[in-house]
Amino acid sequence: MSIRRLPPDLINRIAAGEVVERPASALKELIENALDAGANQVAVRLYAGGLELIEVADDGCGMAAEEMRLALERHATSKLPEDAIDRITSFGFRGEALPSIASVSRLTLESRLRGADGWRIEIDHGSAAGEGPAALPPGTRVKVEGLFDKVPARRKFLRSPRAEYSACLDAVKRLAMARSDVGFTLDHDGRRILTLAAAEPPVRVAEILTHELDRHGIGIDCTRDGMRLTGVISLPTFNRGMADQQYLFVNSRPVKDRLLVGALRGAYRDLIARDRHPIAALFLDVPLDEVDVNVHPAKTEVRFRDPGAVRGLIVGGLRHALDEESGRSAAREQAAAPVMWTSSATFDEQLNRHPRESGGPASFQDSVIPAFAGMTGVAEDQRLFEPAPAARAEPAVEPVPSFPLGVARGQVAATYIVAEAEDGLVIVDQHAAHERLVLERMRAAREGGAVARQALLMPEVVELEEPECDRLEAAAGELAEMGLDIERFGPTAMLVRAVPAALGTSDVAGLLADLAAEIVELGGPLTLRDKLDHVAATIACHGSVRAGRVLSVAEMNALLREMEVTPRSGQCNHGRPTWVKLGHGEIEKLFGRK
Ligand SMILES: Nc1ncnc2c1ncn2[C@@H]1O[C@H](COP(=O)(O)OP(=O)(O)OP(=O)(O)O)[C@@H](O)[C@H]1O
Ligand SMILES: [Mg+2]
Repeated sequence: MSIRRLPPDLINRIAAGEVVERPASALKELIENALDAGANQVAVRLYAGGLELIEVADDGCGMAAEEMRLALERHATSKLPEDAIDRITSFGFRGEALPSIASVSRLTLESRLRGADGWRIEIDHGSAAGEGPAALPPGTRVKVEGLFDKVPARRKFLRSPRAEYSACLDAVKRLAMARSDVGFTLDHDGRRILTLAAAEPPVRVAEILTHELDRHGIGIDCTRDGMRLTGVISLPTFNRGMADQQYLFVNSRPVKDRLLVGALRGAYRDLIARDRHPIAALFLDVPLDEVDVNVHPAKTEVRFRDPGAVRGLIVGGLRHALDEESGRSAAREQAAAPVMWTSSATFDEQLNRHPRESGGPASFQDSVIPAFAGMTGVAEDQRLFEPAPAARAEPAVEPVPSFPLGVARGQVAATYIVAEAEDGLVIVDQHAAHERLVLERMRAAREGGAVARQALLMPEVVELEEPECDRLEAAAGELAEMGLDIERFGPTAMLVRAVPAALGTSDVAGLLADLAAEIVELGGPLTLRDKLDHVAATIACHGSVRAGRVLSVAEMNALLREMEVTPRSGQCNHGRPTWVKLGHGEIEKLFGRK
């Protein structure tokens, strides 16, 4: 085996593998360069999700011709003036991005210093392909065409232009949020998608996330040990089915750091269902020597000197803010404000506010959720029931009939049903169990070829991001099989004509947002059947009785009986058990009787 030094173009291609994974990562590097150059305005143009063209133009400091040549060489950077790799304040510091991108595309770099003429350099897959004068305003313009066209190994991993576009949009949003003092525009396939004027951070965040945060968000500002955390987080009731709206920044650098994501999750523990996610834009500012940004090829992860202190600040700060606001969600929901992502908790509260009309014993189907009412044809107000204490005991006087899951004796923490079976004690996770039942019902209905749909009296218009609409539109046929009739309604909205009867009409917008997110996650080559199952699972989750809902004994028993006759009801749609049994023998062991 002989060792040799690699030629520079190969070194660049190898680096490109780490730095430029897809169009969005090239775009991110180019925008970061523009911001590092002191730009006040950044204009991004994309074609075909960046696969055909990525162009970033800025009004920053610009470069002279000889600086441009250097910029395209590996390890050439203007950003570490005192070689202070431990005190990095710029986005870039390695001098790798431009040569890496240039080695896997056709790259045109144009730049002009103030008071000088512009210059242009073209690189074709790592080789010089010409240079000359260029006409442009002061600043820099970088054009990247045919990214990975000649790198089949990479090309293979690229997704559709739509998917790549949505990753690019995300990259722009993250950087635009990091630097609200800079104006941004984004054009895709010749159409203007985003126009963001320089603004204060909260305004920028609201523009990018949602103005709903004005009503459903909590402002954060706390300090500890020289670290400061600012930003906005959503009330627990204002949540999403996917963690895709969590924007985290460390010293203004967008990061996808596991420690921070975990801390955010930790702050909401017990406040939000396990499969729901808060919305957040959080800015952490720490002294430069507390954090190392040079630990990840795409610079999206960081390492803290004292991770425990960071976690403490985030969990403590957010928890405090959430506790302070804990009365607010309920109070606000009294107004029944239309929300973009209605959470089930909200939905439960609304249910609990209505008195129940029907006097007779409620069966599970007619009382627990509107979702079921649609199927069983029960009138709206009959399904509503009064609030009750969070846990009750039923006297165990009657003999225990031999149901495998036993007879309900009470509810614990408004989340678990405790039942007595002939051979032991059964504990049921009510949300997980119910979600499964709804899913299985939908499946059965689908297999029978007749999914009950409920037409909306007034078709509902749901505003979404354009890529989300694209995805839903593409899946419209499959969704129709599930009883969800949707149509495109302009570039950024969908029209909903009918919903699965099993779901009810209460949260159409939330359902669509979750489905759009779900479809990206499933991007891969799943069979239609599997996809339908996933979609059904998402719909089922929306229609399910939540943890935190107080159930009557009749409702609990109805749930148990239905579980007994439903296939696969022993585990929830996420693979966790829906019930556990403690046999008499095990109970005796616990008490040392055996
Ligand atoms: N838009 C721009 N305006 C002005 N100068 C730029 C611009 N883009 C790049 N440069 C110059 O080119 C150099 C190389 O850019 P490149 O992105 O390759 O490396 P970097 O930003 O220094 O580090 P990193 O690889 O971490 O991004 C920069 O240090 C900067 O001096
Ligand atoms: Mg750079």
